[in-house]
Amino acid sequence: MDLFEYQARDLFEKHGVPVLAGAVATTADEAFEAAAKIGGKVVVKAQVKVGGRGKAGGVKLAEDAQDARTKAAAILGMDIKGHIVHKVMIAQAAPIEAEYYLAILLDRSNRTFLVMASVAGGMEIEEVAHTAPEKLAKVPVSSVDGITPEMAKAIIAQGQFPADVADQVADVLLKLWETFKSEDATLVEVNPLVKTSDGKIIALDGKVTLDDSAAFRHPDHEALVDHASTNALEALAKEKDLNYVKLDNGQVGVIGNGAGLVMSTLDVVAYAGEKFGGMRPANFLDIGGGASAEVMANGLSIILGDPDVKSVFVNVFGGITACDAVANGIVQALELLGPAATKPIVVRLDGNNVLEGRAILSAANHPLVEQADTMDGAATRAAELAAK
Ligand SMILES: Nc1ncnc2c1ncn2[C@@H]1O[C@H](COP(=O)(O)OP(=O)(O)OP(=O)(O)O)[C@@H](O)[C@H]1O
Ligand SMILES: [Mg+2]
Repeated sequence: MDLFEYQARDLFEKHGVPVLAGAVATTADEAFEAAAKIGGKVVVKAQVKVGGRGKAGGVKLAEDAQDARTKAAAILGMDIKGHIVHKVMIAQAAPIEAEYYLAILLDRSNRTFLVMASVAGGMEIEEVAHTAPEKLAKVPVSSVDGITPEMAKAIIAQGQFPADVADQVADVLLKLWETFKSEDATLVEVNPLVKTSDGKIIALDGKVTLDDSAAFRHPDHEALVDHASTNALEALAKEKDLNYVKLDNGQVGVIGNGAGLVMSTLDVVAYAGEKFGGMRPANFLDIGGGASAEVMANGLSIILGDPDVKSVFVNVFGGITACDAVANGIVQALELLGPAATKPIVVRLDGNNVLEGRAILSAANHPLVEQADTMDGAATRAAELAAK
């Protein structure tokens, strides 16, 4: 889970990373209140989970609370790279003398943690990493040893931080490591980490990604979930304990049993869809081994509820749950759904008790259901129906 900047700021504060006063606002009036409370000049910052907010006009300095109201009104509702701004953070404005960069992340390809540090922080850091990689120190960190105070000093030296701030930056790095470790993060990034005109080091922007696999260890992280932006169908699927992922630009709803089968079904549909003007899979949905009628009904109703879906491909390989049980599940699911089922459904059954399964579907003779003998044949038919 990626956090909003204001949530990252709060986590930093909790772990002793120096941050400025800040508050979140969802309306221009709230922004006024927050700015008045902080006092003096403030910065109004779009809260969207995407980089490059400053360059997109989503970060603006305000002279006072009244100005903060005006700037917030302009930023709220803005579209930044497809993300609509619903919240702004009002942060105290800092007199910036230098902008640095610090990050700790999970380096999957090298199976280690990695610290990145640079004195060339700010909005151009991506550019620096490409054109002047020597300005970006990269130091692997063992998950066993972590970052010791000696190591922090060495990393900051390697990043060529000026002597007057080196100790402070090393201390911030240790606190960021503490945040990374104790919150089970996979990314903690500060850009910019600034030196103010009175020589203080402050984290001015924060990006944090928490490891969802460790969520069970952090009941408090549940409060950080942005329910407003999770896809409604995905939320419903989660409620029903279904493994569902909505895919962009798809028209063919896919249901299968077993993650491997569903993944190959996505490939086969995308391939077959090329012949029909680029029809693509609209989702991943694995109903698992024991596909009861209820699970099938839940799955079908979620997929049929997706306005992007024009046809559905049910691809089941009978194993422990045999094809006749799955076929009964489909028939009962369609009875449960009644008039809510409106889109053509292509069913391919194979494996255990396949003949019995096909016979059940044939006998039910549902007007929306078609059967296909092979996976390729079914994918082609589903793509063809979607394109109609
Ligand atoms: N509290 C602040 N006081 C003064 N200047 C600020 C403050 N916050 C941000 N800035 C200035 O605005 C710039 C952009 O801010 P920030 O880093 O938060 O956004 P961004 O980098 O554009 O967004 P992202 O990190 O999402 O790409 C900073 O580099 C800094 O110069
Ligand atoms: Mg930034």
